[in-house]
Amino acid sequence: MKRFRTLATAMALLCFAGQAMADGGIRPGQRWNDTSGSAINAHGGCVQHVDGYYYWFGEDRTGSHCNGISCYRSADLVQWTRLGLALSPTGTMTDACRDIASGRTLERPKVVYNAQTGKWVMWVHWENGSDYGEAKVCVAQADRVQGPYTLVDVFRPNGRDSRDQTLFLDTDGSAYHVCSTNMNTNTAIALLADDFLSPTATDNVQLMGKKYEAASLFKCGETYYGLFSGCTGWTPNRGRYMFTHDLMGEWTSGNDFRDQDGSTGINFCTDDGKDNTYRSQSAYVFPVVGRERAYVYMGDRWNSSNVGSSLYVWLPLSIRSGYPAVRWYDEWSPTVFDTMNRYRRAAQLADGMEFVLLEKCSDRVVSRPVSGLTLENDGESNVVFVLRATSQPHTFKIEERQTGRFLESVYGGLRSRDANDSEGQLWVFVLEEDGYYRIENVKEKTCFSVSGNETVAGTSVFLNERDTKIHQSFAPYFDSDLHNYAEADLFARAYRENNLRLMNEQAEALAVRGIRGGRRLFDNVRAEGRTVVVEGLAEGATVRVFAADGRCVATATSAHNAVRVAAGGAYVLKIGKGRDVETAKIVVK
Ligand code: GAL
Repeated sequence: MKRFRTLATAMALLCFAGQAMADGGIRPGQRWNDTSGSAINAHGGCVQHVDGYYYWFGEDRTGSHCNGISCYRSADLVQWTRLGLALSPTGTMTDACRDIASGRTLERPKVVYNAQTGKWVMWVHWENGSDYGEAKVCVAQADRVQGPYTLVDVFRPNGRDSRDQTLFLDTDGSAYHVCSTNMNTNTAIALLADDFLSPTATDNVQLMGKKYEAASLFKCGETYYGLFSGCTGWTPNRGRYMFTHDLMGEWTSGNDFRDQDGSTGINFCTDDGKDNTYRSQSAYVFPVVGRERAYVYMGDRWNSSNVGSSLYVWLPLSIRSGYPAVRWYDEWSPTVFDTMNRYRRAAQLADGMEFVLLEKCSDRVVSRPVSGLTLENDGESNVVFVLRATSQPHTFKIEERQTGRFLESVYGGLRSRDANDSEGQLWVFVLEEDGYYRIENVKEKTCFSVSGNETVAGTSVFLNERDTKIHQSFAPYFDSDLHNYAEADLFARAYRENNLRLMNEQAEALAVRGIRGGRRLFDNVRAEGRTVVVEGLAEGATVRVFAADGRCVATATSAHNAVRVAAGGAYVLKIGKGRDVETAKIVVK
């Protein structure tokens, strides 16, 4: 009896401990119960916030059968109370395939509020229940956030096949439908009509040939970001992101890479498990209310043999590097954003400035374990640098605040030494368009580099000659708990435009001093009237000509290395081949 009681107590304690942990935070990939103790059943979903509560909508499934769209409510993102079905199956199946009868497949529900009509609008991926051939959407609307939603229609938006889909509500109140189309080859973006119930003719097919699924869009300042997955059904694959300043214009992966395979886009995951998005697929990204730059990545860890029991992978998303980055946490709560956003990009380099170095692709700050420098493990750096201006333009000494020693390139190694007059202690900060720097040693021409394209903690930081195939982009970030230096507005379009201008001024200044090294992709750029000619253009290289406002106005190839521009003015040329990009500036009269 005693033994039994001890066991029962132990089990009760265990259950309690389990509950306490669940109370504490979000545990990605673990069973997540609602407040009644049942597993949350809301897959491929989205979250909206209204009047102090978050509302989580998702596919309610039993096995692969769709029961409708469920809705849960929470004040803290951890404890969720089930409110029931927001959209319930109704009617009978008809050959016209415009019904939501029981047995139809309803996936990836997304909900937005329409301030003009005062209605809540839901778009859902709709299939007939047997296969994925219909590729339609189902649109429904409600007077209250939690529903009940009533069916408006089932259709193909603008006649397109639409499978994985999402909605995006812009800050100006307009809404967009985004879907995988052309048999999941491309992504379509359509502006919705004022009532959000149908697409307008303002639509656009983007991300051509990329075969992206699971689009999840969010906006920070003037920059739109999209997270996507590859196209492997229920099996997880590597996540990837794109961004743009013009939702209906060209999306870009940022001339950059986190993986060798540039064609699939840049991974937004940075920890072990990043190759399959920590065994998840993106569903949505939503902001945490009351916190700046705090976003939650919502993903599904699908169980294809019992979709209804699939798990959820929710993780905090960092945008502090200017690009989305998702680290793994066994358990987390919104306070992680305090550490994440403590370091902020400095608007400019200044003598005496105290800073940490943030490496672009890992979104990690440089830290010092015992010797050498590595990418940090816990969000913080134990090594603070002080920038010391020199008499040479763009050239600084880098002092370690704790030791008073200076970073120096010594026979190719990165050391810290007492101050001396060696050029090995002089570093040129070569600006890139997104505000990162290649930090190049004056004496040995080697640059701060990250080992093997890695993004995980412990990756070493070393010196290597300039090489566009490894990560060599770092930016000064300041500790906002200690300093109130001017912060760069990373998300403003003007920030990149201004950097493009500064980059070219700097390129000219450095070329004069011979620091830049020989050009490899072209010899010279000249203007003949309104025609820009690139001399000695490398075979296979392409030229893009940008106006001062950042718009690309013309392109050329090595076969036709001359382009006409419509008006006089200053132009920036980006000459690229593979991942190598060189820039030049030309003034056309
Ligand atoms: C995934 C998609 C899911 C579901 C699944 C079916 O690629 O993102 O929402 O449609 O395929 O195989």
